[in-house]
Amino acid sequence: MKRLSLIPIAGLVAVLFFQAAQKPEFESHPELDEAKMPAKVKAVVEQKCYGCHNAESKSDKAKKKLDWDEFEAAKKSKQLAAMAEINETLVEGEMPPKKFLENKPEGKLTEEELQILLDWSSGKKKKDE
Ligand code: HEC
Repeated sequence: MKRLSLIPIAGLVAVLFFQAAQKPEFESHPELDEAKMPAKVKAVVEQKCYGCHNAESKSDKAKKKLDWDEFEAAKKSKQLAAMAEINETLVEGEMPPKKFLENKPEGKLTEEELQILLDWSSGKKKKDE
């Protein structure tokens, strides 16, 4: 009888061992779900950022720094790192680039758009959402 009772324990140990051996990206991280892009954020990005930051971008520099196509498919940990960078860039008013805005002032983020991106990239959630 004593031996039989060890079987479930051995099974549990095996399960735990298997789980620990899995790569971390298979774990669920509900706290990271904020990295999902809300439609509002997507709309701003598509209008004001995507043109330069996409997989087919003519600007290699922009593509290398940030590729939204890649971003959407990236792992959450990567997305969070990119969001932090985006936030920093926006706080400092570096994007879209000033030179670009000289020729295309309509490319500038409005206050509202900037706020949407700032809230999202800082991981802040609005109360009414
Ligand atoms: C006119 C093209 C253009 C547009 C529009 C544009 N970017 Fe960029 N972005 C660039 C270029 C070029 C770089 C690389 C700058 C460099 O390396 O000095 C860059 C770099 C970045 C970086 C990396 C900054 C760093 O220091 O590593 C981030 C983040 C970024 N852009 C976010 C955005 C966001 C968010 C938007 C929309 C609000 C945006 N960009 C719109 C061209 C653009």
